[in-house]
Amino acid sequence: MTSITYREPIVSDAQKISELVKKNKPLDENSKYLYILLCHQFSKTCCVAEHNSEIIGFLSGFISPKDHSTLFVWQAAVDDGFRNEGIAKKMAFQTLSGTDPLVKFVEATVTPSNHASLKFLQNFADYVGAKLVANPLFSSDVLEDGHEPENLIRIGPIQKKILEAVS
Ligand SMILES: CC(C)(COP(=O)(O)OP(=O)(O)OC[C@H]1O[C@@H](n2cnc3c(N)ncnc32)[C@H](O)[C@@H]1OP(=O)(O)O)[C@@H](O)C(=O)NCCC(=O)NCCS
Repeated sequence: MTSITYREPIVSDAQKISELVKKNKPLDENSKYLYILLCHQFSKTCCVAEHNSEIIGFLSGFISPKDHSTLFVWQAAVDDGFRNEGIAKKMAFQTLSGTDPLVKFVEATVTPSNHASLKFLQNFADYVGAKLVANPLFSSDVLEDGHEPENLIRIGPIQKKILEAVS
């Protein structure tokens, strides 16, 4: 069985995270500065997965400034060779476990064609025993450049006690 460790990112991880995101289409590429900022300011709501000291997974998130009971998951990437082993689900679980007890919902946006992403979120919802609801959020008109629409996925309410039981 592959040995994977999960931890909060640190600033010196930013370059490797940026390279991982670049390799994993259809994720948007952002500046390295953005990843440095995530590792510095948002490390508590981000997670890296490591295998043999290499970063093979990354999940970024933040507590919604509009609703402090919601963890918004922004980008999730798992290296091609490590997919479908539940690593994204584990990163989401690890990140949610580290949040304030008040946090009971997880949100993310997904394009309709990203079946792997939707499946990972559904698996995560099943794992924590919560409902998943999908609704349109950003239309192609808003996103422009031929971008697919992004649907809002909302998972919850999640009982934090359940996280202890299934960890
Ligand atoms: C989305 C992503 C992060 C999932 O990572 P992962 O570690 O493989 O996720 P998990 O193993 O937790 O869950 C994947 C599930 O999707 C399923 N899946 C994978 N490809 C699929 C497809 N094309 N159609 C339907 N289901 C699919 C897997 O079978 C698995 O479900 P299962 O465990 O019930 O068999 C990874 O595929 C990735 O990095 N994709 C590219 C970047 C991206 O699209 N990121 C998400 C947008 S932010």
